[in-house]
Order: sequence, then C-alpha cells, then structure tokens
Amino acid sequence: MCTSFWLLQTWSKLQSATAGAKYGVGFWKPGSGIIHQIILENYSYPGVMLIGTDSHTPNGGGLGGICIGVGGADAVDVMAGIPWELKCPKVIGVKLTGKLSGWSSPKDVILKVAGILTVKGGTGAIIEYHGPGVDSISCTGMATICNMGAEIGATTSIFPYNARMKKYLGKTGRADIAALADEFQQHLVPDSGCQYDQVIEINLSELKPHINGPFTPDLAHPVSDIGAVAEKEGWPVDIRVGLIGSCTNSSYEDMGRSAAVAKQALAHGLKCKSKFTITPGSEQIRATIERDGYAQILRDVGGLVLANACGPCIGQWDRKDIKKGEKNTIVTSYNRNFTGRNDANPETHAFVTSPEIVTALSIAGTLKFNPETDYLTGADGKKFKLEAPDADELPKLEFDPGQDTYQYPPKDGSGQHVDVSPTSQRLQLLEPFDKWDGKDLEDMLILIKVKGKCTTDHISAAGPWLKFRGHLDNISNNLLIGAINIENGKANSVRNALTQEFGPVPDTARYYKKMGVKWAVIGDENYGEGSSREHAALEPRHLGGRVIITKSFARIHETNLKKQGLLPLTFADPADYNKIHPVDKLSIVGLADFAPGKPLKCIIKHPNGSQETIMLNHTFNESQIEWFQAGSALNRMKELQQKSS
Ligand SMILES: *[C@@H]1O[C@H](CO)[C@@H](O)[C@H](O)[C@H]1NC(C)=O
Ligand SMILES: *[C@@H]1O[C@H](CO)[C@@H](O)[C@H](O)[C@H]1NC(C)=O
Ligand SMILES: *[C@@H]1O[C@H](CO)[C@@H](O)[C@H](O)[C@H]1NC(C)=O
Ligand SMILES: *[C@@H]1O[C@H](CO)[C@@H](O)[C@H](O)[C@H]1NC(C)=O
Ligand SMILES: *[C@@H]1O[C@H](CO)[C@@H](O)[C@H](O)[C@H]1NC(C)=O
Ligand SMILES: *[C@@H]1O[C@H](CO)[C@@H](O)[C@H](O)[C@H]1NC(C)=O
Ligand SMILES: *[C@@H]1O[C@H](CO)[C@@H](O)[C@H](O)[C@H]1NC(C)=O
Ligand SMILES: *[C@@H]1O[C@H](CO)[C@@H](O)[C@H](O)[C@H]1NC(C)=O
Repeated sequence: MCTSFWLLQTWSKLQSATAGAKYGVGFWKPGSGIIHQIILENYSYPGVMLIGTDSHTPNGGGLGGICIGVGGADAVDVMAGIPWELKCPKVIGVKLTGKLSGWSSPKDVILKVAGILTVKGGTGAIIEYHGPGVDSISCTGMATICNMGAEIGATTSIFPYNARMKKYLGKTGRADIAALADEFQQHLVPDSGCQYDQVIEINLSELKPHINGPFTPDLAHPVSDIGAVAEKEGWPVDIRVGLIGSCTNSSYEDMGRSAAVAKQALAHGLKCKSKFTITPGSEQIRATIERDGYAQILRDVGGLVLANACGPCIGQWDRKDIKKGEKNTIVTSYNRNFTGRNDANPETHAFVTSPEIVTALSIAGTLKFNPETDYLTGADGKKFKLEAPDADELPKLEFDPGQDTYQYPPKDGSGQHVDVSPTSQRLQLLEPFDKWDGKDLEDMLILIKVKGKCTTDHISAAGPWLKFRGHLDNISNNLLIGAINIENGKANSVRNALTQEFGPVPDTARYYKKMGVKWAVIGDENYGEGSSREHAALEPRHLGGRVIITKSFARIHETNLKKQGLLPLTFADPADYNKIHPVDKLSIVGLADFAPGKPLKCIIKHPNGSQETIMLNHTFNESQIEWFQAGSALNRMKELQQKSS
C-alpha cells in the first residue's frame, strides 16, 4: 500500500506560474528543506511531488499529493539525482457539486468522468477535483477516485486538502503531518479563478450506481439495467462468486458498507446465494475488521475471509467451483477485469462494481437484482428491501495495526547481496553496460530502417510483455517487433546482413551481438513518441545497438537513449534519410572530439563499394556526453560516487 502524503503547491498554481512551459522536471533534492523542486523551463518552483513504481501511487492524490506512477528505471534515476522529465501535463478541472449518497460510491464518480472524457481522454493530463461536493467524499474514497484515474489515462489526479484528509491522517498516526498541512492550507487548494485546460462539472446527488463489464473496464451499465442487458447479450445472469477486497476498495469504510448490507440480510435469515470472498487489503484492515466484528458478519452471511494479499484480483485463486472453459459470471470490486485475469478462464464474465453492490448481488445471486428498487424474500417468507448502507469512515477506536511483520533492513547495507534465481524468467539483475572504448563506431550494420510512425509501443510492446519488465533479456524479445521495415513493408521481419536471411528483429539483433557486430537503427519523424518506457532504450542497448539515427525524436525517448549510453542522432539534412539503405554499413567518426553543439560525421558504405558522408546533429550536453563515455548514466554516477568516497 503506497499512500503517502506530501505537501505541495497545487498544480493549478504551478501552471499559472509557468504558463506556456512545455516540460516539467522533478528534482530530488536530498538534504534540502525542499524535497522536490519542479522546474518548468526557466521557472524554479518549490513544490513536492512523489513518484512511485506502483500503479497505485496516484492514491496519494486522496491526501492532496501529486503522486505519479513511473517505471522502475525512472525511479532509479530520481533516487540517484537525475531529473525526471515529463511533458508538461494539461490540467482538467472536475467541479463536484451535490452530495454522494445512497448506493452511489466514489467509483461512480470516476465512471462519470470516464463517460465524459472517454477512456483515453485523460491522457497527458492531471485531473484536479474541486468544488463543494468534495467534502462529501471520504478520504479513502478520494484515494479510490485518484487511483482509478489510470482508467482514463490520466498522469495523476488530486483533491484539495480538507478536513476529511486531516481526520484520516489523525487516525493513522500522522497528526503532525495534518498540523503541517493546516499551516499551508492556502497552498493546498486551487487558487480562486485559476484556469483549467478543460472543466467538467458533476452533480454528485445525481449519480447512480454502475457496474462495468464484462471483459473491459470501460463498458459501464447502470446497476438497474445490467440484468436486462446480460439477458439480451447472453451473459450468464446467475452469479457464481462475488469477490471484494484486495489492495483497493478494502478500506474500513468499504468493509463497513459491505457488512452493513450483509447485516440486513442476516436479520431476515438470509445468506449469500453466490459464493463470496473477502480479501483484506492489509494486515491493519484485517485486524481492525476482526476486532470491530465486520469480518464475522461477512462470514456469517456466507463469506470466506482470505489471506491479506492481492489474491484473486491478480489471479491468485485456486478456483474449484467450475471447470476451466465453463461460461459463468463473477462480480468483483477489483479494479481490472481483463479476460482471464482472476481465474485464467476466458469464459468467465467479470463485472466490476462497488464492494457494497457486490455484496448485495452475492446475496441475491443474480445480475437481475437491483438493490435500489427490488425486494428480497427473507427466511420467514416476508419481502424486504435493502437500505443503502451507511458505515463509519474510520474506526471509533484507533486502527489495530495487527501483527508487525516488517523486517527492518540492516543499518549498513553495503555487504548485502541480492539473490536472483538464475533460472527466473521474470527477474534478472541488470549488468552495467560496457564503457565506451575510446574508438569510433566503425562499420555498424543496420538492424532496421523503420518506415513511418515508431512509438515506444512499436519499440517495446506492452501487453503480455509487461511480465518480463524485471528481466531485460527476456523482455528484449519484443524489441522493435511492431516497427515496419522499409525494405519489405513488414513488421518483425528484417534481413540478417550476415546470412542474408529474413528473420524477426530481436533474433537478428541477438545474432549480431553474438558475432560482435555493432548495429544502428534508422527512424523517421518523432521517433519514440508515446509513454515514456525505459525498456525502449534499455533493450536496444542490451542487444548491441549503439546509434539511433532519425529525422527527429520525441524528447523524452531521446533522453532515455542517452541515459543508456546510446547515441540518438538526427539528420542535419532530413533528406539524407533517403541516402541510407538497410544493406549499408555506417561509421560514426570523430567521437574523440564529441562536443555539445558540434555535429558528428557519418560515413555510409554502400554494398557496391561507393561511400557518402553525411552530418548528424545531436543535443548532448557536457554531462550527457559523460554518460555516453561511461556507458550509461548509471555507470557515470557510480564513477562519480567512487571518486568522492
Ligand atoms: C529562459 O532563459 C533564457 C536565458 O535567460 C532565455 O533566452 C529564454 O528566452 C527563457 N525562456 C523562457 C521560456 O522564458
Ligand atoms: C444537484 O442535483 C440535485 C438533485 O437533482 C439538485 O437538487 C441540485 O440542485 C443539483 N445541484 C446543482 C448545483 O446543480
Ligand atoms: C470488463 O468490463 C468491460 C465493460 O466494463 C467488459 O466489456 C469486459 O468484457 C469485462 N471483462 C471481463 C473479463 O469480463
Ligand atoms: C474499486 O471498485 C470499483 C467498483 O466500485 C472499481 O471500478 C474500481 O476499479 C476498484 N478499484 C479502485 C482502485 O477503486
Ligand atoms: C526467459 O529467460 C529464461 C532464462 O534465461 C529462458 O529460459 C526463457 O526461455 C526466457 N523466456 C522468454 C519468454 O523469453
Ligand atoms: C543541424 O545543425 C546545423 C548546425 O549545427 C543546423 O544548421 C541545421 O539546421 C541542423 N539541422 C536540423 C535538421 O535541425
Ligand atoms: C552505389 O549504390 C548507391 C546506393 O544504392 C547509389 O546511390 C550509387 O549510385 C551506386 N554507385 C555506383 C558506382 O554504382
Ligand atoms: C545536461 O542536461 C541535463 C538534462 O538531461 C541537465 O540535468 C544537466 O544540468 C545538463 N548539464 C549541463 C552541463 O548543461
């Protein structure tokens, strides 16, 4: 669980102070009073920002923090003092009016936002919630909304600091931080009259509970309609299992609302018709809901309280109630519902909704039940309606921290080893890249000359590859498999210049590496646009690439390539793109005099023996040239550290 709290000047303030800036840079300033400094071009602005490698990092927006999820290599850079760069985000203001009540939940807020902006509508934007409705949402509810900003592609989301955050901080042993935040309250809320790139307004009083699915998180139906839709689509309406908990939606309030629903059923002698599982999100939640009786109520209604873990949310589920391949419906309050995610059964229709709706549906056992209007029949034959649940936001007593299972790291970590199984498919220690040997790069082969668009997704595809993020050699098997080879118009098919056979790009790169031959990539305009993905720079370096020559680069990818010791270069005359053919050999000469602002010379050797010389521009500054010479930015840092110690 990664909710953290950091003071910050609100993003809207930052924006108005820096109107027109194109890039933001966050600095880690160890030892200074300022934890981070956000630099936008010429502006230096004291502020605080948190970057984390967990996709749940934006939860911190529920405590008024600018908290952004990044890749591991980016986080390493920041810890090591290298600035983290991002394209300056747009700011979308979401004005909340009315009050959240009844069966509606924070999730319904984000669904509404998603409905207005569409799934990709938040891309490249920070979403700032404000307005009088904010105070009707619990602190953990705000965290849920921020967490789910990922569903619409937002960089992160943030709420203004308010009394509910203060209360939550107090209850979780951080009253001192609340006191500090109070002191700076005027900086922790949007300026009056601040300008947003886009403003949308949502009346919380008018929100209806929704359910999403099956098979994608952005197909939303009002709970009142889902039964009819399911029948029409031929989705099973009988619910086999209801699942709540895991990292998100397992706050004390969530569990309390579920227990409040369960209690009403128990009072009428009812138990869940469906199977029902509860995965406590943390040891603290487990211990606190046991102490306060919620866990027992959930068991009494037929639930099974599982271990504190990700659990079925990420597929840790030894499901026994159906056979693989059997068509069935489950309802969860998890945050993703990709096909097969929970139980590896592609025929499982997973619907996502709030914990209290999952509980109500598990009691009724069918998607056709609308808790807002429908009646249940009690054990005594009498009909009754469930009341919208009401539960404490925070426990009356302090949270029970439960068992302390934290293992403290040693005071001196210098002698520690990190053991990784040599047969692991998913983890591998990163080996330092070779230092520059002081020579020119002679007679490089061209791995691929890319035609047209080449985003970071073409360079390092996501999807199934993401599980290899911790294993550079394995993930490198996706290198440039999406890029189109200009020679044959195909993806992932390039000529091996040593054997003349066509084969996949990664295999060809591996062959060159094995033969000790360096290689280059030729690209078109805006090479490496898209989300910053460090693997798009690590992989070519790992497989023996040295130079990427394009008409132009997306700036962040260009910096990422420099960090890994590659040379991102651009044609001084873009027309020279046509002079290079995939069968040519390239030499970059004059590297001994590599200097900022000074173009490099490239000799093209055609197979017929003729040669041409072209000039290549670059944007390296002094310290970046040192990265190249050391083999990578990390190597350079190590050198500097050894020098100073
Ligand atoms: C930043 O500062 C430089 C040098 O002082 C100046 O040339 C440039 O115009 C400034 N840029 C902006 C966006 O103010
Ligand atoms: C929000 O909706 C409620 C219920 O429909 C209505 O009474 C209220 O006036 C609305 N508020 C705003 C600001 O539109
Ligand atoms: C997840 O939900 C979406 C709609 O919200 C649906 O289209 C998709 O099929 C669901 N996925 C699964 C595995 O049920
Ligand atoms: C929480 O539950 C909602 C359904 O209410 C779901 O859409 C969401 O993704 C879950 N996760 C988070 C982080 O809130
Ligand atoms: C991943 O790495 C392991 C160990 O190096 C190797 O045996 C395996 O074939 C690789 N898997 C993939 C999918 O590349
Ligand atoms: C490359 O740099 C030279 C001078 O250093 C400049 O004249 C030329 O315009 C640059 N090329 C491009 C495409 O920017
Ligand atoms: C050699 O090949 C290059 C590239 O295809 C071509 O431009 C050049 O004219 C050829 N030279 C000779 C002498 O054939
Ligand atoms: C070089 O650029 C980096 C950004 O990548 C910046 O942090 C650094 O201060 C620059 N160094 C010099 C010497 O200009």
